[in-house]
Amino acid sequence: MIKAGVIGHPIKQSKSPMIHGHWLGEHGIDGSYEAIDLAPDAFVQSVRDLQADGYAGCNITVPHKEAAFALCDDLTERAKIIGAVNTLVFRDDRIQGDNTDCEGFLANLMADAPHWNAATGPALVLGAGGAARGIVFALLDSGVPEIILANRTRGRAEALAADFAQVHVCDWADAEHAVGSVDLIVNTTALGMVGQPELILPLDALRPSTVVTDIVYNPLETELLKTARAKGSIGVDGLGMLLHQAVPGFEAWFGTRPIVTDALRKKIEAAL
Ligand code: ATR
Repeated sequence: MIKAGVIGHPIKQSKSPMIHGHWLGEHGIDGSYEAIDLAPDAFVQSVRDLQADGYAGCNITVPHKEAAFALCDDLTERAKIIGAVNTLVFRDDRIQGDNTDCEGFLANLMADAPHWNAATGPALVLGAGGAARGIVFALLDSGVPEIILANRTRGRAEALAADFAQVHVCDWADAEHAVGSVDLIVNTTALGMVGQPELILPLDALRPSTVVTDIVYNPLETELLKTARAKGSIGVDGLGMLLHQAVPGFEAWFGTRPIVTDALRKKIEAAL
């Protein structure tokens, strides 16, 4: 049996076991995918124990993505640039690390906003944490000419901008002034998620052709998306990113590239 899993702390909220379990069943693969709760001080040794125990690899989630990055023997180019990994593959006594969040973000955007063309214009990205770093990489890699980056803590946005040409920082309070001049708006913060304050971003100047996307998926329709849709824009929720980021790991461990279907999405939606 091929074994894999997801490591986080806490982890019981993770939908990854349900996603991978769905694909294992769909493809009739003799495999397992479990949720593994590891506190930071146990992380490194426990990953090595999983490798010694014959695991094919694992996903990594909060708060271990940087620790996992430091532990890898080999890194993909995108993981090196992003500085964090969410997918480990154990192969020939080595640990290979990749960051598939960026691929998941783009695949979701392409699926739900197929008319969006990266090259047409700038994007406004809110937030400058780990998720923002992966998304900025994905957007520039796909051809977005310029990113306006706004973060509550400006210094953190400036640190991110220093690593990427074409990223320009604006004050958090000034983000609304960029709304009318961008083709894509991305919320990478947790604002708008259940239990968090709402994201306050006036969308009065939003053009209907501008796509608005949120990495939050609980609730599926955040206030940001609701307002954008009411103004005629396409709103892309964060659930698809979660589903699509899982594809490369499943393929690496279980040998089959799975597909994100409506049936899978409905199943995960029902479990939220
Ligand atoms: P992740 O890996 O999910 O990006 P993170 O690295 O902790 O998590 O980053 C969280 C992001 O949400 C940051 O951009 C953070 O802004 P700060 O850098 O100023 O902390 C943003 N964020 C969290 N709570 C926020 C709030 N109440 N208002 C504005 N931004 C917030």
